[in-house]
Amino acid sequence: MAEPARKPYEAPQITPLTFTAVSKHLNADISADTGFDESYEIPELLARFGSPLFVVSEAALRGLYRNFRDTFTEPGIETRIAYSYKTNYLPAICAVLHEEGAWAEVVSGLEYELARSLEMPPEEIIFNGPYKTREELQTALGQGSLVNIDNYDELEAVTQVANGLGRPARVGIRINFSYGPAPWTKFGFNEENGDAHTALERIAGNKNLKFESLHNHCGTFQLVYDIYGRAIEALIRTAKKARELGLEPHIVDVGGGFPSSNRLKPAFDLPEGHNRKSDTLFPYAEAILGPLSKARELFGGTPTLILEPGRAIVDSAVQLLCSIVATKEIPDSGKAVVADGGVNLVPTAYWYDHKVSHVETKGENDGKLEMVNVFGPLCMQIDVLRENVMLPPLKTGDPLVIGNVGAYCQTQSMQFIQARPATIMLGPDGPEVIRRQETAADFFALDQVPKRLRSNGWKL
Ligand SMILES: Cc1ncc(COP(=O)(O)O)c(C=O)c1O
Repeated sequence: MAEPARKPYEAPQITPLTFTAVSKHLNADISADTGFDESYEIPELLARFGSPLFVVSEAALRGLYRNFRDTFTEPGIETRIAYSYKTNYLPAICAVLHEEGAWAEVVSGLEYELARSLEMPPEEIIFNGPYKTREELQTALGQGSLVNIDNYDELEAVTQVANGLGRPARVGIRINFSYGPAPWTKFGFNEENGDAHTALERIAGNKNLKFESLHNHCGTFQLVYDIYGRAIEALIRTAKKARELGLEPHIVDVGGGFPSSNRLKPAFDLPEGHNRKSDTLFPYAEAILGPLSKARELFGGTPTLILEPGRAIVDSAVQLLCSIVATKEIPDSGKAVVADGGVNLVPTAYWYDHKVSHVETKGENDGKLEMVNVFGPLCMQIDVLRENVMLPPLKTGDPLVIGNVGAYCQTQSMQFIQARPATIMLGPDGPEVIRRQETAADFFALDQVPKRLRSNGWKL
């Protein structure tokens, strides 16, 4: 008798519990998982505002901001948090952070305009990035914002704008150095090959430029905190050179890149990533504040330390609520569910194992769990929210909570196949809509059909 066909051997996958899952409320644990405010009924929120639904916790956002700020506070150093707008520029989120005292870090004229419309004083806006138009430079420098110059072409453009400005143009330079495996050398002037020094010489030769800041940003979800130690040393070396040229930097800006409570998929994590002892930001603060405290004189005695966190302060303040629209049993891979939100709303699902939780009715499943793949609604095989996650048995209509989606989900969400959902903020007055659901009319609002192709008119 022929042997029955055997499945090829698959090695078991072991995923240890995250540190934050074991202990939720560690002192000053900036990346602690803030979770969902249990006092709100998820099915009711979905019924009232539609599914899927982004939910921002205002209290969590404020808490994350305050923890971050306090972690990097040190006597003799003026710490300023310039929130990285691109991480999530929902105006209500920016407004909450500004109320907390955050400055704005912007990387385009569009973001600059938003910061100004939220009444950010120009002096509290840091303009970074590798591409700023002449008009954007004119506006930002003319209003008194700080521009961190990225390259020689931009230095030339800034010089021309500054020469006609009638007020000193506040500038800094972004530097890079060899980070090792982290490839963030696209930005700024290289410190090791002398480019940063040459840029400083040119700045020193122009009285219309007011040199204030040295900037570096060394990656994103940066788990090697030692890189911040190397960054601050490179910034200090550059400050020495600037002083020798007669320049007087007083700002040191180490950018963002601090991790959140999300978990990278093993393929993107450090080899020993899951063995990390803690998720606190103390080692990062030590790596930066220690050397800076010793080099204060190079920054005029009391340096202004600017940090530009994005994901560390918004990621775990936002959750996505969605609903199961179908359940399946797939040969060779087992149970699967289709949810009404997918990688169109959570593009970070490509590299994070986002926390997925089921909203359980008491006693419904008696603690039973099964392994399931959670797919999104797009007509694409790669639309997978989570693979092999243990959940109670799910049925159509059940809500799911996708955790920690505040960073780079809403700003990078796709207008692809599905319109974008509403976002609510849970604040002191209860749930408030901070972005309404997108309609088909919004979706196609920019499109036009030439008259010759409109036999039946164009209505939406
Ligand atoms: C210059 C700069 N600052 C801040 C950030 C924010 O990074 P993160 O969200 O990793 O903190 C970025 C993101 O890439 C950046 O390029």
